[in-house]
Amino acid sequence: MKPSDPPAKAASAQDGPSLEEVIGNKRVVIVCGSGGVGKTTIAAALALHGAYLGRRTAVVTIDPARRLANALGLDSLQDEAAEIPRSVWDPDKKAPASGSYSAMMLDAKATFDRLVARYAADEAQIRRILSNTFYQNIAGALSGTQEYMAMEKLYELDQDGPYDLIVVDTPPSRNALDFLDAPGRLSRFLDARVFRYFLSPTRAYLKAVSSATRGVLKIVAKVIGSEVIDDAVEFFAAFEGMYDGFKDRASHVSDLLDADDTAYLLVASPRREAAAEAEFFAEKLVESGHPIAGLIVNRVHPRFSDLEPGVALGRAAALERTDKRANRLAILYKNLANFDRVADREAGNLAGLAGKCASAPIVLVPYMAHDVADFEGLDEISWYMFPEGEANPA
Ligand SMILES: Nc1ncnc2c1ncn2[C@@H]1O[C@H](COP(=O)(O)OP(=O)(O)OP(=O)(O)O)[C@@H](O)[C@H]1O
Ligand SMILES: [Mg+2]
Repeated sequence: MKPSDPPAKAASAQDGPSLEEVIGNKRVVIVCGSGGVGKTTIAAALALHGAYLGRRTAVVTIDPARRLANALGLDSLQDEAAEIPRSVWDPDKKAPASGSYSAMMLDAKATFDRLVARYAADEAQIRRILSNTFYQNIAGALSGTQEYMAMEKLYELDQDGPYDLIVVDTPPSRNALDFLDAPGRLSRFLDARVFRYFLSPTRAYLKAVSSATRGVLKIVAKVIGSEVIDDAVEFFAAFEGMYDGFKDRASHVSDLLDADDTAYLLVASPRREAAAEAEFFAEKLVESGHPIAGLIVNRVHPRFSDLEPGVALGRAAALERTDKRANRLAILYKNLANFDRVADREAGNLAGLAGKCASAPIVLVPYMAHDVADFEGLDEISWYMFPEGEANPA
């Protein structure tokens, strides 16, 4: 069931394309924002709108909540985007025939394995790397690997997939723009000169370095175990010959992130700390030359009336004084005042953020009474983001 009224749009001096135009025209949409604000949910709902606009759409999700993953038919073992049957995402047959909805859940390790297979010289090199313990540890867990693999996946889908629109969710990172730096960071890591010391046969590397470094390495070996260092040495040795391929690939991925056809949408929550984090995020995005194409404020408490909360409280007090039987109505007035106070506080929290996203469209998605765990829920979220869209005639 659809709610009857979309929330009022936040004031913004928008002069760029609308959110509808972004989803209708851009090829890549990157959904970013700090942890827990609803990036995965919003990414899945934006993609749904893309499909409703008749675009062949894919969404790459990262660690979706289990129930949403089930609804999207996602399985962590599958590293490909799978098309969801139309009857599931478009039960009312409103979307043009050209639209399609494919979804996948990022498996960073599987994506890394595929990259290794692509750039290795032969089967033996693939086996040597994939079976290396150091590789197995970094492939899934190295800070930044998940960010890079999400971007790598995007590049794969862009190059090989039959999609007009690719919506990418981003991992919850400590540093706002980890995913933008990730391609460079990974290639720097793989190419790091320091590891070249390790590449001389067995422990001979210890002789090649200064005595201070030798001391450090001995301590490191003691703490983490010398076999870990041996594994690392073996890993970097096995990687020889692949640096250039990886570096080249990383630079293509960076180009895609900088392309005109790639848009960045920021998801924020109206809570004070979350809005402050989003302001920081917005600044960093703009500074790095990636303007924000839209701000989606999620989990907003709507304002239910135009009454000043003080007036509502005054009415509650008057009712309580005059008529004991009217107490229930007094409670409703108090509730109304409380809800409207929350809404006013949230609007205040968002003022600075709206200024940072000055020319971008801003949409508000309310706090739903339930989790968003199926296509009906995604459709509802999408309706709030695109109240006038063709897909959702109001
Ligand atoms: N507007 C909303 N109303 C109610 N619940 C919501 C709304 N948006 C998202 N949720 C719920 O909030 C939870 C977190 O959402 P989601 O997983 O999309 O956040 P996230 O930003 O991707 O988190 P993380 O940073 O951990 O990846 C989910 O259970 C989702 O169903
Ligand atoms: Mg998420």
